[in-house]
Amino acid sequence: MNYSNIIFPINFYQKCFKLSNEDFFIKVDKRNFIEMVFEEINFLVVEIGFGKGDFLIHYSSDYPNKQFVGIEKSDNLVKEVAKRLERNGIRNVRLINAKAEFALYFLFPDSSIDMVIINFPDPWPKKAHIERRLVNSNFLKLLSKKLKKGSSIYFSTDVENYKDFVIDSLRKIDSLKLENVILGFWEERYQTKYLKKWLKQNKKIFSLHIIKMY
Ligand SMILES: C[S@@+](CC[C@H](N)C(=O)[O-])C[C@H]1O[C@@H](n2cnc3c(N)ncnc32)[C@H](O)[C@@H]1O
Repeated sequence: MNYSNIIFPINFYQKCFKLSNEDFFIKVDKRNFIEMVFEEINFLVVEIGFGKGDFLIHYSSDYPNKQFVGIEKSDNLVKEVAKRLERNGIRNVRLINAKAEFALYFLFPDSSIDMVIINFPDPWPKKAHIERRLVNSNFLKLLSKKLKKGSSIYFSTDVENYKDFVIDSLRKIDSLKLENVILGFWEERYQTKYLKKWLKQNKKIFSLHIIKMY
């Protein structure tokens, strides 16, 4: 069977059948999920909230021997990026249409991921909305469980207090170490829609490189 660019439209099925996250995901055997969607796994990269997909498309086409999973909650963006992957003949990417918290928890075995990328997550800059941020200590704990020892998380934002919030959250998680704080975007070869937007506005960009220690 050809699994190229399979989309897991989890949001869609959940809406149609009014399933809770537990009802839906519990039916998927996470031990086999990754093996099921890739014939071979050399190096598994997960991009969370890939948006228009510019980064995912360029990165995955430059590294055909790595396997990429993109997780995005917006149905329309997932459909759009799936079409672009198809048009560009990219075969090493799978897309999951779901909230990253649930997809990671229910679909990925522990210690299975080699690299996680989170470029410009929704910033929720107001104090009253901080609890809506995706990257908080609970989410970092979940990532740590799913990452292999020695693997990396790359996080970027234009909001300085989101960067500080993530650094603070990391202090609660011994298994993750802040390796580097980068002023600018962590990967100079590629751009994202939001990176272009913030650069045009002369905004400062912050990136964090985080390592899973054990
Ligand atoms: C500000 S945009 C950044 C998009 C892209 N990374 C870029 O740099 O251009 C944030 C993206 O994260 C997605 N998103 C927000 N919360 C999410 C979640 N819990 N799980 C997966 N995707 C999420 C949004 O739908 C949106 O596409």
